[in-house]
Amino acid sequence: NQNQQDAEKQAAALAAVKYVKEGDVVGLGTGSTTAFAIKALGKRVQEGLNITAAASSVATEKLAKSLGIEILDLGTLSKIDISIDGADEFTESLDLIKGGGGALFREKIIASLSKNAIVITDASKKVKKLGAFTVPVEVIPLAYQYVFDQINLLGGQGKLRIKENKTFITDNGNVIIDADFGLIDNPAKLSSDLNQINGVLAHGLFINITSKVVMSEGTEIIVFE
Ligand code: A5P
Repeated sequence: NQNQQDAEKQAAALAAVKYVKEGDVVGLGTGSTTAFAIKALGKRVQEGLNITAAASSVATEKLAKSLGIEILDLGTLSKIDISIDGADEFTESLDLIKGGGGALFREKIIASLSKNAIVITDASKKVKKLGAFTVPVEVIPLAYQYVFDQINLLGGQGKLRIKENKTFITDNGNVIIDADFGLIDNPAKLSSDLNQINGVLAHGLFINITSKVVMSEGTEIIVFE
């Protein structure tokens, strides 16, 4: 149930925040699990920890700033010491689907810059094969129909993301196609196929980019690395 899931999200978040050290540049993801981590980090900062951070979304930046966490301009960073982010699905081989919250592009940049990219989840996010959750694809609006058709040619069924009766617009001013490929046999291949499509800014398959997944299940913390 919801309470159990929230307790797991919080436990994973608390476990991950312990990895953050004095002086670190910290990448902050987006979503309800990461929000628990940002709050825990804010508490450590208020207790005297010195860190700086980069935010993967406008929402995260707001939350972090409200807690006294100093936010740096992501575009100026050439390395991040540690990042903490959620996921919509992950496998034991550390492949992920992200982007349920629509922040996938900046999340991917942050993960790519991170020496230690930590993903935090409750137990419901663990899967044997990715793909029950659709793959979010961020698309420059004028390429929408082209990308939609290309996804189709790759065997996917696209759907424009709508939120509160309106086309969902990302922090970068783009739209999202949520693409159903069924269960994905070769996520690395699909990832590179999607990257080849002109007009795709980024997609939610995160392959070979995660250092560890800290998952909470009941009262246990399980680390996959
Ligand atoms: C945001 O774009 C996503 O990648 C999130 O990390 C993902 O949706 C997980 O969100 P929750 O922590 O709310 O489940």
